[in-house]
Amino acid sequence: MSYPQTRRAFVQASLAASAIPMFGLSGRSAVPSAIGKLRTAHIGVGGMGASDLGSIASHSMVEVAALCDVDSSRLAKAQEKHPNAKLFSDYREMLATYGSSIDAVVVSTPDHTHAPAAMTAMNLNKPVYCQKPLTHEVFEARQLRAVAESKKLVTQMGIQVHSSVQYRRAVQMIQSGVIGKVSQVHAWSNKNWGYDGGPLAPAKVPDTLKWDLWLGVTQSREYSKDIYHPGNWRKLIDFGTGTLGDMGVHIFDTPYAALELTAPNWVKTTCRPVTGIGHPEKNTVEYQFPATRYTTETLQWIWYDGSFAPPSVDSLKLPQGFKLPGQGSLFVGQEGVLLLPHVGEAILFPEEKFSDYVRPKLEDKNHYHEWVDSCMGNGSTSASFSYAGPLTEALLLGVVANRYPGQQLDFDAKRLQITNMPEANKLLKRSYRAGFEVPGLS
Ligand SMILES: NC(=O)c1ccc[n+]([C@@H]2O[C@H](COP(=O)([O-])OP(=O)(O)OC[C@H]3O[C@@H](n4cnc5c(N)ncnc54)[C@H](O)[C@@H]3O)[C@@H](O)[C@H]2O)c1
Repeated sequence: MSYPQTRRAFVQASLAASAIPMFGLSGRSAVPSAIGKLRTAHIGVGGMGASDLGSIASHSMVEVAALCDVDSSRLAKAQEKHPNAKLFSDYREMLATYGSSIDAVVVSTPDHTHAPAAMTAMNLNKPVYCQKPLTHEVFEARQLRAVAESKKLVTQMGIQVHSSVQYRRAVQMIQSGVIGKVSQVHAWSNKNWGYDGGPLAPAKVPDTLKWDLWLGVTQSREYSKDIYHPGNWRKLIDFGTGTLGDMGVHIFDTPYAALELTAPNWVKTTCRPVTGIGHPEKNTVEYQFPATRYTTETLQWIWYDGSFAPPSVDSLKLPQGFKLPGQGSLFVGQEGVLLLPHVGEAILFPEEKFSDYVRPKLEDKNHYHEWVDSCMGNGSTSASFSYAGPLTEALLLGVVANRYPGQQLDFDAKRLQITNMPEANKLLKRSYRAGFEVPGLS
């Protein structure tokens, strides 16, 4: 992992002798700050970024060194709690000019800026906590993982539910073989992060927003009120990843981890025809994954969102009248079925068969503090980019398949190529706008 032993040794030494002045660190040749704390920089501090900031800053060894947001009103609000942090609106400028005073970086921007911001930080050897889904493009996920691994950087994707007792217990239950080998996973979210409408009406950019920086690597266009910022960018193909990328990454997480899945053999979607603007408002995506030690010969995985979710109880062979949660996953095994609500305790079916089943006992974990501790040389993260990269790739292939409704897309993970529909490969990697190129991604 990133600057581990050296960092811990330095921090302990600096705590013991805090009068000794020290200098900023950059990467593995780490020299800690004078107060021996991890100096964090936060890119995107409104919405989930505010929550990430609070959770990271609640660790006693964190000092918030810098805040960056393209909306000055959001920046001002974050500054109220961290008056000593240095403020920026452009993360490139922050890292170029203030990087030596920053030990680790948190990325909580909209999806299209995850990879450029995270890679810019990793190019300077900074550990990164990055919101989910890890990236907007399949190629970006592959590259972030490769660079994090080659530089041995501490990384964590922001799927905090991954650390919850309920999700971790479900992983253990599946891996203990309680329902036998798994042949199918159904996963769903009744949220609608799609947009089936037409072209967007232009509007004046709010005075507080630096629109060009918000657009970042994407192609320039006019602002539109209440459509992009905040939050609604999720619905649009150039910025978000629809309901599948938004909620799917949480809900796919447990099956992906529990079954030790890799890359899908193929993906196929059922949704409305392509509009070129928004993600579909309702969506069914089918994946086939190769076998693992926890699955049958192949694993069929079906995702339902919008008004296709939840799927019918009949199709899942659950008791008549059973009410499915609005979001969750269901594992069909050779010996039974496990339903995992998002977020709740797993339920085993047939209930009579498993009435005496004793569940594994687990302790709570803090996903954010796990990353901070790991940056300080203690322990490791559970959703590092080595895990988050392939999980995000698999999800994003489903998002790509939305652009080819009804077509099966065969995937060659090694060559990072869709083999039976060459034109779909252009959707795996976007061209970054001139002036926003990032080494390793452009
Ligand atoms: N893990 C979770 O449970 C969870 C929950 C909600 C959102 N998220 C993730 O958090 C991220 C943000 O989502 P949100 O709902 O907060 O979006 P949002 O649009 O409400 O907030 C994004 C923030 O980033 C800022 N921003 C945008 N571009 C920027 C840039 N180039 N540089 C610096 N700041 C920039 C915006 O001004 C805003 O403050 C997304 O990736 C989303 O998937 C995760």
